[in-house]
Amino acid sequence: MVKAVVEVNNISKVYKMEEVEVPALMNVSLTIKTGEFVSIVGKSGSGKSTLMHIIGALDRPTTGSVVVNGRDISKMNEAQLASLRNKEIGFVFQAFNLLKRTTALDNVELPLIYANIHEKERIKKAKEMLIKVGLEDRMHHLPNQLSGGQQQRVAIARALINDPSIILADEPTGNLDSKSGRAILDILENLNREGKTVIIVTHDMEVAREAKRIIKIVDGRITS
Ligand SMILES: Nc1ncnc2c1ncn2[C@@H]1O[C@H](COP(=O)(O)OP(=O)(O)OP(=O)(O)O)[C@@H](O)[C@H]1O
Ligand SMILES: [Mg+2]
Repeated sequence: MVKAVVEVNNISKVYKMEEVEVPALMNVSLTIKTGEFVSIVGKSGSGKSTLMHIIGALDRPTTGSVVVNGRDISKMNEAQLASLRNKEIGFVFQAFNLLKRTTALDNVELPLIYANIHEKERIKKAKEMLIKVGLEDRMHHLPNQLSGGQQQRVAIARALINDPSIILADEPTGNLDSKSGRAILDILENLNREGKTVIIVTHDMEVAREAKRIIKIVDGRITS
């Protein structure tokens, strides 16, 4: 039997804004197995990013529990969550989220600094990752000297640097033309083939169909 890498058990998320409560997720349960490629689809505001942030330990559910690699993250403290995010999860966002005045190489090295890896090893690993995503000739460029597709590849290299078992990608092709978007999807597919669990959020059905399983969210509930 294939192990579950992510188990979401009956979670709800309610954002509190002053006096108003905004329900974003209601009674959501799902299991994702090791090595799966899953896409999460739904309209704007349906709760996709909220679910992604909770799976990635960037945010906590209001009720319910989330188990990642066999550990209940609802019970972890901030330091344990930070370590989980650094070592076991690779995040890729729509807006790339690179540091502006920092070269591609330094952006990719960053998670290794937090992991206390010494400089020589950091540079070696970061270069390997940039080569893997096809950016061997762009290592010393700043983000604004790179195309959107190249910036997203830097972000993927950074997400991969600590060899996470799970890649979470929130609209990774949302800001890209179709050709650069295709290149990013190819990289994610290759990573999945190498054994990584890939979870991708998108509102684009064509992108979603790349995955072997599609989870649909409507108004904070999973409908299929
Ligand atoms: N920090 C927050 N505070 C209050 N409400 C929030 C917050 N973040 C999200 N929401 C609300 O929760 C709901 C779900 O938002 P979420 O960002 O998860 O949607 P989404 O499916 O990712 O949408 P999109 O496709 O536009 O990115 C929305 O109604 C949104 O307004
Ligand atoms: Mg979103």
